[in-house]
Amino acid sequence: MTDQAIRRDAAGSMVNERYDIIPRGSSHVELEDEDFRRLRDFIKDYSGIFFSDEQKYILVSRLTGRLALHKLSSFRDYYLFLKYDKERDEELSAVVDLLTTNETYFFREILQLKALFEEIIPSIKAEKTYVQRPSLRIWSAGSSTGEEPYTVAIMAKEHGVPEDFNLEIYATDISQRALTISRKGVYGNTSFRVTDEYHKKTFFDPAGDKFRLRDDIKNMVKITHMNLMDSTVMHLLSPMDVIICRNVMIYFDLGSKKKLIEKFYEKLNSGGWLLLGHAESLINITGMFKLVQLKNDLVYRKPPR
Ligand SMILES: C[S@@+](CC[C@H](N)C(=O)[O-])C[C@H]1O[C@@H](n2cnc3c(N)ncnc32)[C@H](O)[C@@H]1O
Repeated sequence: MTDQAIRRDAAGSMVNERYDIIPRGSSHVELEDEDFRRLRDFIKDYSGIFFSDEQKYILVSRLTGRLALHKLSSFRDYYLFLKYDKERDEELSAVVDLLTTNETYFFREILQLKALFEEIIPSIKAEKTYVQRPSLRIWSAGSSTGEEPYTVAIMAKEHGVPEDFNLEIYATDISQRALTISRKGVYGNTSFRVTDEYHKKTFFDPAGDKFRLRDDIKNMVKITHMNLMDSTVMHLLSPMDVIICRNVMIYFDLGSKKKLIEKFYEKLNSGGWLLLGHAESLINITGMFKLVQLKNDLVYRKPPR
């Protein structure tokens, strides 16, 4: 990014061409190509999130403020700080909050979720007929601020789950900021961009200019911090019937996508279901899953034993 690409906004903060804000008081720091590659590979190895050469400006604009905060004068020093400083875990958490895209909303890609309740869950029920007190475990992996797992909870309340089934909904994300919002369960208008008035009135209470999710829905979802690139934490999760991982892998490089899909394969019960975002597929990633055409959507399935 050149100096010309940066200007100041009315408050005196620097803004680049893409309107990422560089906090007031931070001076522009050049990110040399070699340092950029080191930093982006480090971020990729940690989180799976990949920045192409063309996206170098994102690292500059979002991380320059961190250099100023830690009184570091170059990105090379910042890279070493992230790698070796005793406060590196806290700093990585801040970096993740700055670099992740948390865009989400209630009832997103609804046809797929309808398919979950109208076709997938009945099929799971049919297969667990002989299991006593069966569990039904659904995991929103990369749940962001919670709208996705809470939509599943709302729909479970409305559609009901088979009698005797013990429904468990898990929500995990790498961003602590996003998880804090999930735990609060208070949302502004952008989260309701496709929600009808009936659902807003039935499942939320007004809270100032925002809306608070009802506690009985909130309590249906278990929220945990998890980096999907970290197998140690994932091992602690019980086997899943359904994994919903939508609009997460689009930010990953191919190697990280492959790694993650292998872990999902291990984590799913035999015959378990994997729901990806509409713009995502497993082409060029793996042939281990079967692509299944449901009435309203295409989903992936781990072949039944
Ligand atoms: C665009 S949001 C998608 C939210 C939701 N699944 C949806 O489709 O509406 C992507 C989320 O993936 C999370 N994410 C990115 N990399 C991750 C990782 N390595 N482990 C866990 N979550 C990750 C981000 O923090 C972000 O909240």
